[in-house]
Amino acid sequence: MKKIVSISLFAGMLASSLMADGATAYKKCIACHGANGEKVALGKSKIMKDMTKSEIEAALIGYQKGTYGGAMKNLMGVQVKSLSGDDIKAIATLIGK
Ligand code: HEC
Repeated sequence: MKKIVSISLFAGMLASSLMADGATAYKKCIACHGANGEKVALGKSKIMKDMTKSEIEAALIGYQKGTYGGAMKNLMGVQVKSLSGDDIKAIATLIGK
């Protein structure tokens, strides 16, 4: 019985550590976009915090598919390649207006 309890506790911890966390997923974006999405990344991007949540989500999905972006879309494609759908939602919720 004790064993079962500790196994399910462990499973619960694992599940919560795998949940999308916008702040963690956004960490690697800060250098270019600013801590709150307030910068024009490399002098090129829109100011992310002025975009709506759904615009950010659409842009990130578009970069993954190669269907969105301007002159530097390949650079953003690399940034978003490994994000899950949940990561993208979490980032859009964190930064978007
Ligand atoms: C090396 C710098 C750099 C990093 C790191 C970076 N970006 Fe970008 N980002 C850019 C540039 C440059 C553009 C404009 C690309 C283009 O030409 O479409 C851009 C565009 C965007 C856009 C669309 C804005 C627009 O102009 O339409 C979003 C949203 C975005 N980035 C989110 C993110 C997120 C989220 C991350 C982290 C997972 C990230 N970026 C990491 C440089 C960066």
